[in-house]
Amino acid sequence: MRPVKIAPSILSADFARLGEEVRAVDAAGADYIHIDVMDGHFVPNITIGPAVVKALRPHTAKPFDVHLMISPVDPYIAAFADAGADIITVHPEAGAHVHRTIQLIKSLGKKAGLSLNPATPLEAVDYLLEDLDLVLVMTVNPGFGGQSFIASQLPKIHELRRRIDALGKPIDLQVDGGINGDTARIAIEAGADVLVAGTATFTGGPDRYAANIRSLRS
Ligand code: DX5
Ligand code: ZN
Repeated sequence: MRPVKIAPSILSADFARLGEEVRAVDAAGADYIHIDVMDGHFVPNITIGPAVVKALRPHTAKPFDVHLMISPVDPYIAAFADAGADIITVHPEAGAHVHRTIQLIKSLGKKAGLSLNPATPLEAVDYLLEDLDLVLVMTVNPGFGGQSFIASQLPKIHELRRRIDALGKPIDLQVDGGINGDTARIAIEAGADVLVAGTATFTGGPDRYAANIRSLRS
């Protein structure tokens, strides 16, 4: 079985104590810190900008996995790179030229991810897969934490696992939305190797974070 990484989404953290929350999930065994950036335009919610990413950067050495749900996205890539993002993930619908966006991220020395909404076909990765470091399969419609896992995405995860293995490149296959003990297992069985978990990580308060992360991983 391939090792599974856990990426707590700080969307479900206490926003009044974000630095402490990031340190707590780092100590609890998080592999990446997943940062959900929303603009009230591409998705119906507004969250975090580059200034907050920069303020969080000194609180952990773990990779910042920045999920941009903003449109247009190109004008903000450099600001998130400068703020300390390690992986920058975009949606193909967030700009006119997604190949150019991916090249822009890579030209800044960052890892590039592409995120597929539930209704976005798998073919969105065609001609791009070998340039990517991460593919994100959304198992909820983006915008909010705490939604239910959309099981119709499982064949997409399965086929992406096949394509990534066929390519033989170390591309993360990340699943985001509605991950809990049960859905973690089926996402991993379908081929996921990075699980984003907001609600499931932050439930129960800081004393529970390590146990929550451990139970998702197993
Ligand atoms: C949704 C975000 C997710 C979300 C996950 O738009 O991309 O990262 O915070 O939250 P849970 O784990 O609660 O479904
Ligand atoms: Zn996300």
